Amino acid sequence: MDIQSERRRLLDADDDESPSGVRTEQDAYLDKVKNGKLYLATFAAILGPLSFGFVLGYSSPAIPELTKIQDSRLRLDDEQASWFGSIVTLGAALGGLLGGWIVDKIGRKLSLMFCSLPFVFGFTVIVAAQNVWMLLLGRVLTGLASGLTSLVVPLYISEMAHERVRGTMGSCVQLMVVTGIMGAYVGGFFLDWRWLAICSSIPPTLMMVCMCFMPETPRFLLSQGKRREAEEALRFLRGPDAPVEWECAAIEDAYDEQAANFQVADLKDPGIYKPLGIGVMLMVFQQMTGINAIMFYAETVFEQAHFKESDKASVIVGLTQVVFTAVAALIMDKAGRKILLVISGVAMAISTAVFGVYFYLTAHWHGSASASSPAVTLWTQTPTPAPLAEADLTWLALASMGVFITGFALGWGPIPWLVMSEIFPTKVRGFASATCVLANWGMAFIITKTFQDLMALMTSAGTFWMFAVACALNVVFALIFVPETKGKTLEQIQANFRGTSAL
Ligand code: BGC
Repeated sequence: MDIQSERRRLLDADDDESPSGVRTEQDAYLDKVKNGKLYLATFAAILGPLSFGFVLGYSSPAIPELTKIQDSRLRLDDEQASWFGSIVTLGAALGGLLGGWIVDKIGRKLSLMFCSLPFVFGFTVIVAAQNVWMLLLGRVLTGLASGLTSLVVPLYISEMAHERVRGTMGSCVQLMVVTGIMGAYVGGFFLDWRWLAICSSIPPTLMMVCMCFMPETPRFLLSQGKRREAEEALRFLRGPDAPVEWECAAIEDAYDEQAANFQVADLKDPGIYKPLGIGVMLMVFQQMTGINAIMFYAETVFEQAHFKESDKASVIVGLTQVVFTAVAALIMDKAGRKILLVISGVAMAISTAVFGVYFYLTAHWHGSASASSPAVTLWTQTPTPAPLAEADLTWLALASMGVFITGFALGWGPIPWLVMSEIFPTKVRGFASATCVLANWGMAFIITKTFQDLMALMTSAGTFWMFAVACALNVVFALIFVPETKGKTLEQIQANFRGTSAL
């Protein structure tokens, strides 16, 4: 059936109007779509972010054990413990580079299946470790797998989903990351570091098995000229009633407008440099909020607040992230990305500023030493309980932490990954996403590695005020530069950057 008669059939089939009053071909098409299999494929893919959450969370329960372990060959000193935590981010930056190359070479589905290997191999090296170097190697490998996954999964999901559910599906990536982080924290209560590593290998193994039964994305297949396979993939994802030839033609039309292969000279094209700049800045700003520093620091804050079981602090932080990331996923396609980024940025700017005030006041009451002392307790030492007068203000620290984590979960946690997967034209998706992933993990490494030095150099108050300024800049950036992608097809989003229209 040709595309014109398909268009007529779509519009004749249903005369209802969309909520905006204008009934489009897209509305008519989407009304025929069944999402069951799309959810299934998304479920298989998000086992990847779940695995990467386990990698991020693993160091929190493992480090205290490994710093006190009997076997001196495996015992971590302060410096090694800090590397054990942060080297994952370096591995992940490498993984992002590798991911950018393989998604275009072997496709989204095979790349996803490939991610399982370094996860499982890395955890195996940790379990079998005979010395500290093997522990670190295991962390680099699991980090590499995390970087690969953080690139491939958002792409896979956004290329399969349609605009009515893409925001929610894409936000499930971050939801699974934070669920994995919490899974590792909770697992740490019951399992030793070896058993925790063994259990952490289960999600990536499951992902490998489940992905065998899922399709390649229609957009990748079309970019390879495989029209018949693309229609089959769409038929699987959209159910039996949707006339998938129409969607195939719409994707193909947009793809034809772009030259087939990416060349460096293309970077002069606004359709490429604009989304690339936005994607990279979103990643840099996400890390500049200080999320990873604050997550590592959570336990110390709870200890200062005289929580009897401060090791449960991480679980409270983790649970808050899970709950509010789920809220963000549910409202993403209704509220839109931009407004959530703004609300999230404002909440984080206020809470980090207040956190700074808390440190400033406590430092002035008890002499400047207390201002920086928590910084050196991040990994191995137990902080001295705060004097009573200081404890009076701990509610302020706890409230700031709660607001910060909630704010991050509602916007700057999930949205940079989601927007990264939506704004690039197919031909540069691998290269551009790799640049974003590299920027994200590179910044994560710099912030986690320099956090303690920053606290010593600028005092705790100064460091948190710096994060507050970064969060305020986030808001300005979101307001001015980030496009609203809610309710648009990937092709429409990209056409906006080029200054043309699609569909
Ligand atoms: C960030 C990570 C962070 C994680 C936890 C992700 O979106 O990229 O750096 O550790 O969220 O919330």
